[in-house]
Amino acid sequence: MTSTRTPLIAGNWKMHKTVAESESLVRDIINGDRRKDVDVLVAPPFTSLHAVARLVDTSDVGLAAQNMHWEKQGAYTGEVSPLMLADLGVEFVILGHSERRHIFGEKDEGINRKVISALAHGLKPILCVGETLEERRAEKIYGVLEAQLLGGLSGLQPDETARVTIAYEPVWAIGTGHTATPDQAQAVHRLIRRQLIDLSLCNKDLANRVRILYGGSVKASNATEIMAQPDVDGVLVGGASLSAGEFLGIINF
Ligand code: PGA
Repeated sequence: MTSTRTPLIAGNWKMHKTVAESESLVRDIINGDRRKDVDVLVAPPFTSLHAVARLVDTSDVGLAAQNMHWEKQGAYTGEVSPLMLADLGVEFVILGHSERRHIFGEKDEGINRKVISALAHGLKPILCVGETLEERRAEKIYGVLEAQLLGGLSGLQPDETARVTIAYEPVWAIGTGHTATPDQAQAVHRLIRRQLIDLSLCNKDLANRVRILYGGSVKASNATEIMAQPDVDGVLVGGASLSAGEFLGIINF
């Protein structure tokens, strides 16, 4: 099947980069030698969002936040709201990243509230899902993804589900140097697209429009073979997105 899904290359800077470092990195990405037939976005830390927003504003590079709260305002010390992100010109928001789930105890229910709130505020959610090594070894991938998809996308209309980007990030591949093989990635991406239909989250047409990114130790040297898989519509890159040269190498897969 020919896909109409434009590839998306997303850089998740996590808790890295001062404002000056962020500006320098995003300038190098904006001005770098890169193909134009893919969508590119960067997700700087909150403290750099404003500065980076100004620089990407007149470019074709998109902007994402790494997290947000579901309420638009209120007594939530330390949180950042969708209203604040939209105000800065943020377009995408990463939700349910495995570091949020495993280090900060985020659960599907709260992630679901964030997904709903992001859509209501005109932000495009990137919902992260993925199994741990123990779950993979115990052959629980289907059930883990089912719970994360049903939990994260609960209450959405099918057309809203189609506006969500899914990022499959096997926990055992994040920051470990152990990338899923292209076959492993393709098998799970295909499964996720199938589950969107089987779990009645959307119909086949809409499921074929959902972008499913792979994340976990993606580098310039392995991006090409991962991106060659028919159900891999892009990559969510952590460590390798912190260097303009390496990130441009991934963009130019
Ligand atoms: P990594 O991180 O590329 O450093 O493995 C990916 C991610 O967590 O999004």
